[in-house]
Parts: sequence; structure tokens; C-alpha cells
Amino acid sequence: MTKPFTAVDLFAGAGGWTTGATQAGAQVLMAINHWPRAVATHALNHPGTTHACQDLSLFDHSRLPEHDLLIASPSCVGHTRARGKERRHHDATRATAWCVVDAVEAKRPAQLVVENVPDFREWELYGVWRMALAALGYSLEEHVLNAAEWGVPQERVRLIITGRRGARAVQLRTPNVAGASAESIIDWGAGEWGSTEGRAKRTTDVIADGRSRGWSRFLVPYFSQGSGLRARSVERPIGTLTTKDRYGIVDGNRYRMLSIVEAQRAMSFPDGYLLTGTGVERKAMLGNAVPPELARRVIEQLREAA
Ligand SMILES: C[S@@+](CC[C@H](N)C(=O)[O-])C[C@H]1O[C@@H](n2cnc3c(N)ncnc32)[C@H](O)[C@@H]1O
Repeated sequence: MTKPFTAVDLFAGAGGWTTGATQAGAQVLMAINHWPRAVATHALNHPGTTHACQDLSLFDHSRLPEHDLLIASPSCVGHTRARGKERRHHDATRATAWCVVDAVEAKRPAQLVVENVPDFREWELYGVWRMALAALGYSLEEHVLNAAEWGVPQERVRLIITGRRGARAVQLRTPNVAGASAESIIDWGAGEWGSTEGRAKRTTDVIADGRSRGWSRFLVPYFSQGSGLRARSVERPIGTLTTKDRYGIVDGNRYRMLSIVEAQRAMSFPDGYLLTGTGVERKAMLGNAVPPELARRVIEQLREAA
């Protein structure tokens, strides 16, 4: 019989990490988040997990059950470059990273795994945060991963930090399993399509770019850093999804936005995964999740090393 491998998920959101951890055979004992909508969604899909709807910076971490693996995705809002000058207004969200230290100090799990944007390492206190974990006996390994190389149909670059108490942290091996193309996650027969005609100037320019490349099916990225006025091929995995609408889809003369079901597939959530709330809330939960397929493959490696 395989050894049980237990986990706790902090900042659990809609359950990307928890879903992948469960697929990897871990038992997620407790999940915590302060957003009632995310907690309700998580609870609906993971009824065997204990849930707490709590601000983690005020949480008493001695209430956590004993566990083998601490999973945490502290809020990345204060760390993303995209927010530019707004950065200094987000001290409270950057402070969420200290919850990892509090939880580890209270429970000393054998391993930890933290997900964030790569810019997390630019935080002025990042070195001190690492030192705090080192003082508690943990070695850390940083990995900047592209989810598309881990079997997720999305190019999504994230920082994954593994940690281990009293031994070298697990160095993740990239499986190089190519994520599926955007074309394969789009349901071309579904959704409410409008015309490509009469769109805003920027959209019209991107559509013209796609057509100039001889494409009849392609993506129109919105807000995407560096995408400029370029259309995106559907033969590649889709680009990073965030909490806002990101992609329009062109099929000949038809046009619509990527649907929530398609975004769910692009994040690699299983088709039966139930999201709750308004469209805006669902997109927010999907856009800030860890893709379950990436989570599964990472946690399988951590479990092997346990
Ligand atoms: C990056 S998302 C986590 C996504 C999640 N790991 C997943 O895989 O689906 C960060 C989450 O932390 C929550 N959050 C932010 N600040 C928090 C706080 N102080 N206490 C508890 N939850 C918080 C947000 O509501 C958001 O759902």
C-alpha cells in the first residue's frame, strides 16, 4: 500500500492546486481563502476537504491539521509587473507571502510548494522571506516553468518554489509534454458569434493582421503584454489567461470571445469541474488558478520524494 500523503492548501482559490494534488494521490485536508465565492466553489468540488473562509493574515496557523505538504499561492497582485506604478499600493497583498512562514513555523511540514509570478523574486523582502524559511530548516529550489511544457494547453510562465525540511528541496524535472493547441480547446460549433465587421479599431487591426498571414481561424489577444497588434495562431497553445477577458476568436467572418468553458479547458480543469458565481467571478477564479495538470505533475514529483 502507498503511504498517505497529506496536504494543506493556502489561498486555495477555486482549487487548481487542490485538483492536481488530488489527481496526484494527495489528500488535501484543509483549504483556506478569504473570498466566499472561491471557498464555495472549492467546497462544491472537494467536499472531503475542510474549508475555512478566512483572511490568512489573521489566521491562527496552529489550527491547521498536521500535513506532509504545505501548498500556497500567495496573492500575486502586488508582484506583477503589469501593475507598474500601482505596485506600492499593494503592500497588503505582498504581505500574504508571510503567511507561508507562519504556517511552516506552526506545523513544520516535510515539504512545501509555493506558486507565484516570476516577479515575486523582485520583492525587496524576498531574500528575507527565504532566510526566514531557511531559519526554520527549509532549503528552497526556484523553478520558472511554462505550463505548456507540462501538458497544459496554455503558455503560462510561473514561479514554483519547492521546499524541504532538513534535506535538499526537490528539483523539478520538466516533462516536456507539449500542451494541446488553442484550436483543440475551442468549440467551433458553440457560442454566440457576431461579425468580424464593425469592431473597434484595435480589434479590426488585429483581425487584418491575422488575415494578412492567410489565416481564417485565429485569436485576437487583448491586454496581452507585448502582443501589440498581432493575431495569434490557433496552432499554438493559447497565451496566458488572466482574470479578465483575454482572447477573441475569429472563424472566417465570425467573431466571439473565448467562453468560460473554453477557458476552463485552457486551464486544464476537468470538464466536470463546477464553477459557481457570475461570469466575471468565474473568469477571475480561472485566471488566477494553478492549472491542475501542472499541479498534478509537480505534486507527483514531490510525492515520489516523500
Ligand atoms: C493566485 S490565487 C490562488 C489560486 C489557487 N491556488 C488555485 O490554484 O486555484 C490567490 C487567492 O488568494 C486569495 N487571497 C488573497 N489574499 C488573501 C488573504 N489575505 N487571505 C486569504 N485569501 C486571500 C484570493 O481570493 C485568491 O483566490
